[in-house]
Amino acid sequence: MKVSAIVLAAGKGSRMHSAVHKQYIRVGDYPVVYYALKAFQNHPDVTEIILVVGADEVEYARETIVNRYHFDKVRMITPGGRERWESVKFGLQYVTGEYVMVHDGARPCITKDLLDRCIAEAQNYGACVAAMPVKDTIKQVDAEYFSVATPDRSTLWQIQTPQSFRTSLLTGAYEGLDRALAQGENVKLTDDAQLVEQFGDGTRIRMTEGSYRNIKVTTPEDLEIAAIFLAGQEESSFENS
Ligand code: CTP
Ligand code: MG
Repeated sequence: MKVSAIVLAAGKGSRMHSAVHKQYIRVGDYPVVYYALKAFQNHPDVTEIILVVGADEVEYARETIVNRYHFDKVRMITPGGRERWESVKFGLQYVTGEYVMVHDGARPCITKDLLDRCIAEAQNYGACVAAMPVKDTIKQVDAEYFSVATPDRSTLWQIQTPQSFRTSLLTGAYEGLDRALAQGENVKLTDDAQLVEQFGDGTRIRMTEGSYRNIKVTTPEDLEIAAIFLAGQEESSFENS
């Protein structure tokens, strides 16, 4: 069985307000995107990595990350698109594995355990996403910021990545999306699972236990938190070795 990973690093990181795009900011000894690449590189079931970067960052990523750290599973470095779903679509065309894991390059704190679970559940269910139950009460609000509903918290999960699929399911969903866009439909997507929910073959998306440490580096304080989590991970892998 072949498992491919698409690592997304084509965003502009606007909420980070930094001159350097957030995926290239240093945390600990390495740039943010290094850590996710390392986890996929080291996982025995992952056979190839497709790295999606900004259109003018392909050579930069090749030299300063892929070659420098010898990530030899990176089979392709490709420019992404304006929206995240476009970046996934551009990466997906190079995928040769039977299963594909789509991962935010801005989530550095992934572990082998998590990847094991994602691969196993993608095989069992066809589609799964790393996720955790929400801790806070969530309100649905109207355009004037008045509360309109309080959904039952026990039914709400916070979605993370990796999001893992039988590859044919994801490519089929993208074909459905293309048809919808060609017909002028207005489509708003924030994650890959949502695409499969709308344009898939009916396969249901299974929640896989992620981790509250699996944060997305989004705003400056996330860099401080990620540094703490990554230092902890290094310690525990040292203990285990
Ligand atoms: N991403 C991408 N292509 C895009 C947009 C996002 O590959 N057109 C990637 C980002 O690089 C990131 C992941 O998708 O690894 C999650 O997106 P997000 O956290 O929103 O990152 P940015 O879009 O870069 O940040 P912001 O929304 O603050 O501009
Ligand atoms: Mg974004």
